Amino acid sequence: MSRHDLEGETLLLTAGPTQEALDPVRYITNRSSGKMGYALAAAAARRGARVILVSGPTHLPPPPEVELIRIRTAVEMREAVMSHLEPATIVIKSAAVADYHVKEVPQQKTKKTAARWTIDLDPTPDILAEVGRNKGSRLLVGFAAETQNLVAEGRRKLETKNCDMVVANLVSQEGTGFESDENEVVLVMRAGGNVALPRNSKSVIAEQILDHVLKLRLARHEAS
Ligand code: PMT
Repeated sequence: MSRHDLEGETLLLTAGPTQEALDPVRYITNRSSGKMGYALAAAAARRGARVILVSGPTHLPPPPEVELIRIRTAVEMREAVMSHLEPATIVIKSAAVADYHVKEVPQQKTKKTAARWTIDLDPTPDILAEVGRNKGSRLLVGFAAETQNLVAEGRRKLETKNCDMVVANLVSQEGTGFESDENEVVLVMRAGGNVALPRNSKSVIAEQILDHVLKLRLARHEAS
């Protein structure tokens, strides 16, 4: 029997990678499978929330009872997130958005004539930072994928992007982070302090993240 403790909430969630075209046949991307974000979407829907899931390309089936919006690029993800922000009461950004892209993608395939192909990449829009500037009374949860200085980097992202909580995970560790079925994370809290969630399946970690989101929600209700 699932708890319906997220009833009345609308979760706007992002998951998976983005793909950034280099030309009509090639793209750059990252190793995100979407498993972490889809586990959060499924758990939130089971717990009674309306869930809007903005997803990059994955091989995963859509979780039941979730409104799925498929996108490919960071620019498309930004569009989808900003146009669905209004009804959201909670925003969770677990997607691995490409940080750089080719702004003007050539219309023709790049031919293999030169010995070297040098590509100029421009930064993609920072969606989390933009939501942070426009979050109003929403709860904002960012992720931080790090290979070192996990907690310090998580806190830096929390502060610079105006998050209420950052889920920091090491992506250099075997068996957790990208692609795997398990994760191990540290929740960096705006109110101070960190909560370590030991290694577990992504579905259990998702439930634990939502438990902490709910605690933040209740604390905010009590303070108002
Ligand atoms: O998908 P899986 O295979 O299950 O793997 C899960 C995961 C490792 C991808 C996930 O747990 C995770 O760490 N997601 C965040 C990945 C990431 O891009 O982290 P970052 O530290 O580069 O970005 C920080 C935050 O800014 C993230 O919330 C990201 O969604 C957001 N961001 C980043 C760049 C950008 N242009 N816009 C953003 O909104």
